[in-house]
Amino acid sequence: MSDKPFLTDITELRRRARQHIETGAVTEGYRANLETVIKILNEALATELVCVLRYKRHYFMAQGIAADPIAQEFLQHANEEQGHADQIAARIVQLGGSPNFNPEGILSRSHSEYVEGQSLVDMIREDLIAERIAIDSYTEMIRYVGDDDITTRRMLEGILAVEEEHADDLSSFLADLDKDWKKGA
Ligand SMILES: [Fe+2]
Ligand SMILES: [Fe+2]
Repeated sequence: MSDKPFLTDITELRRRARQHIETGAVTEGYRANLETVIKILNEALATELVCVLRYKRHYFMAQGIAADPIAQEFLQHANEEQGHADQIAARIVQLGGSPNFNPEGILSRSHSEYVEGQSLVDMIREDLIAERIAIDSYTEMIRYVGDDDITTRRMLEGILAVEEEHADDLSSFLADLDKDWKKGA
């Protein structure tokens, strides 16, 4: 499953990420926009929760592969994704909505996927793909929200910056591992 083509997946997930945003953009009236914002935020919440679970799995599995600095990074990312989930849930409540923590359907609401990964490189690659999806979907959300809800936008911008750091950390790890292998071969 982890050998699925990279571009096809991203394209499909981006399409899904845009679905509700497009519907919202054609809706007139404040209440309708608010509903869309809450819906988008619940999708972001699901995305973050899936990311927490994936990073936690990778943290515990990577310890067995003797990759302590990478395992520690997975744990740090898991904790930061949990922080994002909490921020988003709080904002949903502020907007008069209810955060959806129902485990049923969480993966279909999420923009990113839960891929376990068999090797350390697999795990890092899957996490990098998930981060890239998160970067794209947060970017879309920020553009959609625009100036209509500045507090939500600022929260999303803060999260986006952290997702970009995560992606950067992961691609550095991938580059290092690649170098080590070439040296060791
Ligand atoms: Fe996050
Ligand atoms: Fe992240």
